[in-house]
Amino acid sequence: MSINLKPKAFVVGWPIAHSRSPIIHGFWLKQFGIQGSYEAIAVAPPDFSDFMRDLPVNGFVGGNVTLPHKQKAFERVDRASATAAKLEAVNTLWLQDGALYGDNTDVEGFLAALDQDAPGWDAASGDAVVLGAGGAARAVVYGLLRRSRRVILANRTRERAEALATHFSAGVEVIDWARLPSSLEGAGLLVNTTSLGMKGQPPLEIELGGLPDDAVVNDIVYFPLETALIRRAQARGLRTVSGIGMLLHQAAPGFERWFGLRPGVTADLRRLVEADA
Ligand code: ATR
Repeated sequence: MSINLKPKAFVVGWPIAHSRSPIIHGFWLKQFGIQGSYEAIAVAPPDFSDFMRDLPVNGFVGGNVTLPHKQKAFERVDRASATAAKLEAVNTLWLQDGALYGDNTDVEGFLAALDQDAPGWDAASGDAVVLGAGGAARAVVYGLLRRSRRVILANRTRERAEALATHFSAGVEVIDWARLPSSLEGAGLLVNTTSLGMKGQPPLEIELGGLPDDAVVNDIVYFPLETALIRRAQARGLRTVSGIGMLLHQAAPGFERWFGLRPGVTADLRRLVEADA
């Protein structure tokens, strides 16, 4: 077996300029004194198949895949983890014995962020209410079902929520977007996975009055750091979890795979990434 002295990893997406992943992995490489690299690579959708084909000869140990390539990456890997197969999307790749492996660490990232930022959240009673039905919602719903939470799912386009519920076969109840405020009564957790609240998008306007005092509000949007939803939840005295935690925690398993050491999501790292937001 040969030892790779300067392992190279990447994040591929389109566009990719604003990715925070190079900051996160650069911090960990420096912290551990590893002579490796992690670079952002912009690949347009028509070129992605060629990028995947050429990976073994380009000297990479692996990398991250972000929008809009996660589904294509899943279709192209030789072996997908059970989580990636369930989500039909890959965000972490690595080469091993000549084969290309794919995993999806968004689920683990979502759960680890909640565990770190709202310890004991899963002990609170009540259902979890999830807003949205895109790829991010899929990862969040899967994570919640794994922790045995019943999920109430609301999406502007109801059919997409129904398709997502069918995909998971049990444990997800779909409600109309218009019925949201009443569905919050007694809920232990509210998670926003829609793009509402992202920079350049309208804010998520939702009345949080029905949530119990021990409920947790998690907005997976991380740009800006503090969304209108987070501010509203804080004003009500609820515990909040911002999207930056999921971003940081989904990165850790990939780093360990490529560089051999398990990194931590520390306050220093958080400050560094938040300063860039
Ligand atoms: P991703 O894969 O990143 O989760 P996506 O598939 O583009 O993203 O989904 C974005 C989510 O935000 C969807 O749930 C979308 O609702 P629709 O399925 O009805 O499109 C939701 N969303 C975007 N703009 C919205 C708006 N103005 N009001 C309510 N929901 C919105």
